[in-house]
Amino acid sequence: MTACIVGWSHGKFGKLDGETSESLIVKAASEAIAHAGIEPRDVDVIYVGNMNGGFVRQEFHSSLPLQAHPDLRFKPSTRVENACATGSAAIHMGLNTLAAGKARFVLVVGVEKMTELNSTQAGEVLIKASYVAEEANIEAGFAGIFGKITSAYFQRYGDKSDALARIAVKAHRNGAKNPYAHFQKEFAYDFCRTPSDKNPFVAGPLKRTDCSPVTDGAAAVILTDVGTALGMKQAIAFRAAEHVNDFLPMSKRDIIKFEGPQLAWQQALKSAHLDLLDLSFVESHDCFTSAELIEYEAMGLTAPGEGERAILEGWVERDGKLPVNVSGGLKAKGHPVGATGVSMHVMAAMQLAGTAPEGLQLPKAKLGGVFNMGGAAVANYVSILEPLR
Ligand code: COA
Repeated sequence: MTACIVGWSHGKFGKLDGETSESLIVKAASEAIAHAGIEPRDVDVIYVGNMNGGFVRQEFHSSLPLQAHPDLRFKPSTRVENACATGSAAIHMGLNTLAAGKARFVLVVGVEKMTELNSTQAGEVLIKASYVAEEANIEAGFAGIFGKITSAYFQRYGDKSDALARIAVKAHRNGAKNPYAHFQKEFAYDFCRTPSDKNPFVAGPLKRTDCSPVTDGAAAVILTDVGTALGMKQAIAFRAAEHVNDFLPMSKRDIIKFEGPQLAWQQALKSAHLDLLDLSFVESHDCFTSAELIEYEAMGLTAPGEGERAILEGWVERDGKLPVNVSGGLKAKGHPVGATGVSMHVMAAMQLAGTAPEGLQLPKAKLGGVFNMGGAAVANYVSILEPLR
């Protein structure tokens, strides 16, 4: 790979009353440009990651970053969309633009303002990222899709509710240390494990604490080529960036195998000439705790059906052999869909630059993996990042 992240910004995620997608974009873009130490006029191309629309009335987002500075006027800017992997899709467009020699600096902003709608209405927008012809009538919005996947997993391999609760506890313990996270408090194991008024079943075996929340937020990165990056303040290089799309209908796949994510991971590790355990950490797409569980298997950490070992034996804890979601993940940090992939890359870049917030920084972060997924294992992106120097 020949590209680097040389500047970034990450706003607080949560229910951000008073903010709009425009205000979030403008802040993220301005801060990322400043962090890279470049001028707005240096930006050649812009990509905005924003999901399907429908959460807010303003659907046409591509020119909103231009509001950050008059010098951004007339820059080519495009909205990119690939369901919950929209943020990574926008980054990939930036990487392709650099590879084509069409830009020196690319600004990528990911944004979503979801909380204008209540959870039920948000679920109706999110379910459009399923195969609507067969799957959209499922109850509980997108949580219903993962409720179905989780039930199928439990049928094949047994009830893994203990492991799911442990994944939720880990996410919130890590998220409690992340000043950008939607939820910054720890959740007790018994609370996550036991259904209650405050933790009801949402879909199939999934309880509220198994779900990522409905969140507002934005994040941004500045990308450039390696030659330029060598002269910049900070530079985190892409050692691999792979993208695999699978069939959309779940009926055409063995859905608990997550074959698309598996292939994306295999391709990324192969092109980076690395084994999974060479990585210092992974930011993985835990839209639901069961997604993280199956992703342990897809990334090759455990054999199929044995994902629970990774959490029950502590492998994926902060001090384990492969820390997963030290940021708190989507579960605690929040999942503003269009922003999530960019946020994951920012969290990884901060770790690798040694500038993660206190309490979040890992002691020896040398190589970071990012897995961002759109739909039910449909659009799959894996990045492997390392400091350029
Ligand atoms: N995890 C933990 N706590 C949560 C939560 C979550 N995901 N979502 C909400 N809460 C908390 C709130 O903070 C609030 O706490 P409080 O009473 O102490 O203030 C309480 O639960 C009620 O919040 P509310 O927003 O009314 O909950 P809800 O039942 O309407 O929504 C979900 C909860 C899980 C249904 C909703 O967050 C959801 O739909 N998540 C999935 C989103 C999704 O599908 N994303 C795409 C994935 S691919």
